[in-house]
Amino acid sequence: MPNILPDPLESYLSGLLPDRDETLAEMESYAAENRVPIIGPLVGRLLHQTALLNGAKRVFEMGSAIGYSTVWLARAVGQDGKVYYTDGSHENADRARDYLERAGVAQRVEILVGDALELLDATEGQFDIVFNDVDKHDYPRVFDLALPRVRKGGLLITDNVLWSNRVLEPSEDVNTKAIQAYNQKANSAPEVWTTVIPIRDGVSISLKL
Ligand SMILES: C[S@@+](CC[C@H](N)C(=O)[O-])C[C@H]1O[C@@H](n2cnc3c(N)ncnc32)[C@H](O)[C@@H]1O
Repeated sequence: MPNILPDPLESYLSGLLPDRDETLAEMESYAAENRVPIIGPLVGRLLHQTALLNGAKRVFEMGSAIGYSTVWLARAVGQDGKVYYTDGSHENADRARDYLERAGVAQRVEILVGDALELLDATEGQFDIVFNDVDKHDYPRVFDLALPRVRKGGLLITDNVLWSNRVLEPSEDVNTKAIQAYNQKANSAPEVWTTVIPIRDGVSISLKL
């Protein structure tokens, strides 16, 4: 996936990052070897920092794959926090369970397998953060479903909102159109204050007002 930032700048920023611990480093290697599209350490650190700033204790993640983004979030919510992991694949969930154990955060993560939008609907309560990384054609629906579930002062965070720059032109592609629609909603809805951070593939952060 091409970066939004010029490669030398992305490499420079990545080069500034401290080494990850053994588990995260292994997850990064596994993802690279098996073409699992994880957020990577730049966005992982952004998620972690955002959750710390927000004092997040209850996080719902939509599209968790092998649990890489889950680890960054789970480490931020602390021992008394909770992160809901969701993915449609049992195989991913089994792999994530193992990594989450090894990362020392399994106790604070609930693993749910199925459609993330349905699982959000079936899970009660408000969230400090909803992190959205599901299939892109669902993004506008995620905005409508997830926003009411974010507490005031909470965040709806969405990955891939610049979609390798494909959002720049009108498109007939269903995923591109859906991301464009998501960005329109997130930047015009009066209930949120949204900023897009153009690292990696673009991260949208909407503060619920
Ligand atoms: C981009 S990957 C997630 C990567 C993960 N957030 C990370 O950075 O470590 C997207 C994952 O979401 C899952 N997925 C996509 N749409 C979904 C849906 N509607 N419900 C549940 N899982 C979904 C896919 O199976 C895939 O594993």
